[in-house]
Amino acid sequence: MLRDDALKGKTIIVTGGGTGLGKAMSTYFLKLGANVVITSRKLDVLKNTASELENETGGKVLPLVCDVRNNEEVESVLKNSLEIFGRVDGLLNNAAGNFISPTERLSSNAFSTIIDIVLKGTANCTLACGKHWIKEKQQGTVLNIVTTYAFTGSGYVVPSACAKGGVLAMTRSLAAEWGKYGIRTNAIAPGPFPTKGAWDRLLPGDLAKKFDFKNRVPLKRMGEHQELANLAAFMMSDFSSYINGEVITIDGGEWLQGAGQFNGLEAVTSEMWDMLEQMIRSNSKSKEE
Ligand code: HXC
Ligand code: NAP
Repeated sequence: MLRDDALKGKTIIVTGGGTGLGKAMSTYFLKLGANVVITSRKLDVLKNTASELENETGGKVLPLVCDVRNNEEVESVLKNSLEIFGRVDGLLNNAAGNFISPTERLSSNAFSTIIDIVLKGTANCTLACGKHWIKEKQQGTVLNIVTTYAFTGSGYVVPSACAKGGVLAMTRSLAAEWGKYGIRTNAIAPGPFPTKGAWDRLLPGDLAKKFDFKNRVPLKRMGEHQELANLAAFMMSDFSSYINGEVITIDGGEWLQGAGQFNGLEAVTSEMWDMLEQMIRSNSKSKEE
């Protein structure tokens, strides 16, 4: 989508960059000329992804182990990235933990685990990069991956909804507070984009068939990874330099379909509409009489 070299000279840290959507966004950042640091808890996964992406794009990828809950490991990612690439320009807070469960079945630790990864992990990485950029008087971009239920809420993923809602509040708050330092803070709210990590935990077994996301989306399909990567690259690039504090939804219209009171009428057939129209017209006629 963007012109060649749109991200040339930039170094971007992508948490959870070894798999799924983080990997897809990293791939496109590399194709557009960025250096990318990918982090997660599994070095073998990161190393495989790094060599795959370097071969595919010709770019430079630094794989670093980092549990976003561990502040020392987060600080060490920043230090290593600066040593290897000399600068860091962007942070993509993409790492997340999630699973479906009735909330009353959750232990306190289960709830905290998701909050610690998603909300506190995002805070750890954002604080590390933000403090560095402020100290160095350097511009920077934070891009947070949330979800549409960050603003609608959702049952059965309550810890994730609370955590993503917190990340959205952090996005808007820091946009106002850190704008003066030249730090932009934005978020993307993706709808359904199939990945193994998400589908294993949110739609295990037959649930993927029974609860087919395609039916929930007005465009009648799920998202393609490149569609998200296009948006993320734009938000990381200087082409979006006046966008700050925004959350951009990319869901094919899914959350609005769920929200609109009468959207379920899609199930009404053409013949039924003929009947309904007649009933409505005759009702209003008999009232007038
Ligand atoms: C109830 C559960 C559970 C489950 C774990 N727990 N799974 N409780 N139902 N299915 C409980 C455990 O018993 C434990 O509590 C606590 O949660 C922590 O579990 P651990 O396994 O010790 O945690 P950890 O090893 O840190 O693993 C974190 C994880 C795991 C979140 C549980 O799934 C993970 O590593 N996920 C990372 C990747 C991921 O989740 N990707 C999907 C993102 S998708 P007790 O009390 O027993 O100690 C996403 C999409 C949103 O966010 C929108 C989609 C449309
Ligand atoms: P995924 O492949 O499971 O990605 C999650 C990544 O986070 C993994 O690479 C995982 O790696 C990493 N991670 C988890 N816990 C971590 C921790 N404590 N420290 C560091 N890294 C950690 O799933 P995905 O679908 O691509 O999700 C990516 C992002 O998109 C998430 O923020 C998710 O909420 C968001 N999202 C996804 C969808 C969708 O439809 N897929 C929709 C809306 C939002 P390790 O396990 O190796 O650490």
